[in-house]
Amino acid sequence: MPRHAFDWIDAQAEARRRAGLVRAVRPRAHDDPLLDLYGNDYLGLARHPEVTAAAAGAARRWGAGATGSRLVSGSTGLHAELESELAAFCGFEAGLVLSSGYAANLAAVTALSDRGTLVVSDAGNHASLIDGCRLSRADVVVVPHADAKAAAKALDGFAGRALAVSDGVFSVDGDAADLPALAAVCRAHGAGLLVDDAHGLGVLGDGGRGSLHAAGLTGAADVVATVTLSKALGSQGGAVLGPVRVIEHLVNTARTFIEETALDPAAAGAALAALRLLRSEPERAAAAGEAAQRLHGGLTAAGLTAVRPDAAVVSVRAPSPEAAVAWAAACRGAGVAVGCFRPPSVPDGIARLRLTARADLTEQQVDTAVETVVRTAPAVPEPAPGRTGAPGARRAGPAR
Ligand SMILES: Cc1ncc(COP(=O)(O)O)c(C=O)c1O
Repeated sequence: MPRHAFDWIDAQAEARRRAGLVRAVRPRAHDDPLLDLYGNDYLGLARHPEVTAAAAGAARRWGAGATGSRLVSGSTGLHAELESELAAFCGFEAGLVLSSGYAANLAAVTALSDRGTLVVSDAGNHASLIDGCRLSRADVVVVPHADAKAAAKALDGFAGRALAVSDGVFSVDGDAADLPALAAVCRAHGAGLLVDDAHGLGVLGDGGRGSLHAAGLTGAADVVATVTLSKALGSQGGAVLGPVRVIEHLVNTARTFIEETALDPAAAGAALAALRLLRSEPERAAAAGEAAQRLHGGLTAAGLTAVRPDAAVVSVRAPSPEAAVAWAAACRGAGVAVGCFRPPSVPDGIARLRLTARADLTEQQVDTAVETVVRTAPAVPEPAPGRTGAPGARRAGPAR
């Protein structure tokens, strides 16, 4: 029998199936009646009439696609407005919009590092920062999660170009980085600081200006942020924000920006409308955070293990990937849609339910979500007699 080129795929698929790690894309209806706690539409703006009207208006005016790289086809006024308003809102000198947050991270890391650069990367960073590090060909040191001292140790004695990269709010557990501590370490070592604020924009900082604003670090000469337009701004796309010279450097060297088709006009228009709404209705930012605290309070009061949220993401531990999948399915069956994070999307191999709070959730909706997640929680294996807990077992469900 001749060997077939992709036979190895079947072996991998079988291993995934045995480990409970199969993923599949599910159909989604536009009028799904589920209570949505799995999207990242933190401010409830994705379907806001002003945002969708801006998307439609931009598509009618400029076309469905941007048609080319901005360096070739030119930049619409819409992209320029979005960049300057976003940078000003978050407190940076300048901004550069890309087609996704993922692309923004690839562009920022690769433009700010090179062979011979030392990049210090938090172990909990998002895949897009990790991929940026891989693409950069820099010497990458992955330091334990949220450990500024480990970052300092990695940088100690290094005299060359250096960059620390971190999520502002970590996407899996929803905890915020200690940015003042990390920035102090970077400054002491002459290193730049790049923060991915995908989950901080719109939720943290004054009126949702983000993690770096909350930490008093925006506008600093040695700090660069990336953001996504796809979460709190309810659209699609990403941006790099920083000093003018950094942004000009990206325009000239970031292959992700130079070679990609620009963000589509509808997404740029929608993001700009959402940003203006956030500016005029700053209470939306606080409301998302309050909903997250209420969610966390209810879940932990019922005995579940959940990380205290610093922004809008609430992460609840599950005993195994299979249990997490079954738990999320049970929630869905009961009308509440929650995220299910399993390896390889979690840095520590522990599966979780991931719930996202939104500014437009009512207290009653939050309480319904809590009640559903608690009621459907998997039973925790009882510890063996005479022991206080089975090795590796974590408190997953409430005692019942
Ligand atoms: C922390 C973080 N950074 C970057 C991204 C990528 O953003 P986008 O979805 O706009 O590509 C995500 C998206 O899930 C994220 O959670």
